[in-house]
Amino acid sequence: MRRVKSLWNGLTIFAFLAGLLAALVASVAFPSQMAAAADLPSHITLTWAGDPRTTQTIAWKTDALTQDGQVQYWAVLPGKTEERQTLPAQVERVDSNWGTLTIHTVTLTGLDPGSSYAYRVGREGAWSEPYQFTTAPDRPQRLKFMIFGDSQSINYNTWRTTLQQAYQANQDAAFFINMGDLVDVGQDYGQWDAWFNASQGVLENIPCMPLVGNHETYGPGGKLAMPALFTAQFKLPLNGPAGLKGQVYSFDYGDIHFVMLDTQIGEEGRFVPDMLEQQKRWLEQDLAAAQQKWKLVFLHRAPYNNKAAGNEAIKAAFAPIIEQYHADLVFTAHDHVYAHTPPLFGGTPADSPSQGTIYVATGRSGSKTYADSIAREWNDFFYNPQDEPNYLTVEEESNSLTVKAFKQSGSLIDTWRITKGQLAEVSN
Ligand SMILES: [Fe+2]
Repeated sequence: MRRVKSLWNGLTIFAFLAGLLAALVASVAFPSQMAAAADLPSHITLTWAGDPRTTQTIAWKTDALTQDGQVQYWAVLPGKTEERQTLPAQVERVDSNWGTLTIHTVTLTGLDPGSSYAYRVGREGAWSEPYQFTTAPDRPQRLKFMIFGDSQSINYNTWRTTLQQAYQANQDAAFFINMGDLVDVGQDYGQWDAWFNASQGVLENIPCMPLVGNHETYGPGGKLAMPALFTAQFKLPLNGPAGLKGQVYSFDYGDIHFVMLDTQIGEEGRFVPDMLEQQKRWLEQDLAAAQQKWKLVFLHRAPYNNKAAGNEAIKAAFAPIIEQYHADLVFTAHDHVYAHTPPLFGGTPADSPSQGTIYVATGRSGSKTYADSIAREWNDFFYNPQDEPNYLTVEEESNSLTVKAFKQSGSLIDTWRITKGQLAEVSN
């Protein structure tokens, strides 16, 4: 017995030494491949920090603390091979409960509107696959984008299925919006790793323009913090109020002005005590200056809620400004149901969408459901997606906005349209 054991120990030591020698030989013979494994880019993500017509922001992560990330990009023109441009990335170290992350970011500028570009990220010896994006046209004839309510999950396979099936069914969508509560514990990097892994195949191809939910502020053990992992990983316009840059912002795509606000006063108010006042001032200026035909506002917590707990401070702060400057639609989340109101002005139904704002609860794209989210007196449509997750598409074309709500599997829950300049503007 003892001889067998000592023979086994001898074999184990031999195998270990042989493995070590092989690794040493490989690292001398193929140094770039050894470096590549740790340097390979992952979580490649498109956003717009600038003008969607002429810029494209690209961010990615490496496991190694690499200093020299790059983007190579080139115009995609039929029958022509364009010269590759190479740009260095900004490199950030981000602390997390999984150790230090390395986030690389590049914003390409001076792009041609309505044009397709190919790109890859990484560095010599560690490039990603090539992907493609398309800039916004100067004057889009039509626009479609997708909206996903809370994707927070125990297991991000549910989110993966919702996003991937929605993208398959809407290949013409220019970008997507995630309404906040992307993940369940926003300070736990493991959740983000799962979210980004589940989103690959979409994030490299069309931009994601997300907003912050309350769960982005939660740490392991319930500790609250500013949504540092959200702002580190999504490079968004920095045109918001001082204490909330990168998480409160606006941008334009064609005829639509998009405004993303932060409703997390219970969580972030201890860090930015005047966050509602800052946003009210900023929102008023932002909406007053917007020249686009349509104005859409996105809030995680709903002024017109479906769960029992209302959000009266949010409603009191934002609804009067939203309605005074006539945002056409307000999209909300947090209650995990799909619902909408008629056009409202000051809490009262208006005769037409030109005289009020329609509030749309966007549902849930992850695994969490709420049986106690119910229809309220202000809803003229309500659906609790407990059977399967859901998502929305919004299409702008010919003076109209069409909203469609789909189940994850693709069947239609609801569709309606508003048209500018008509008295009876809501039609199902
Ligand atoms: Fe929430």
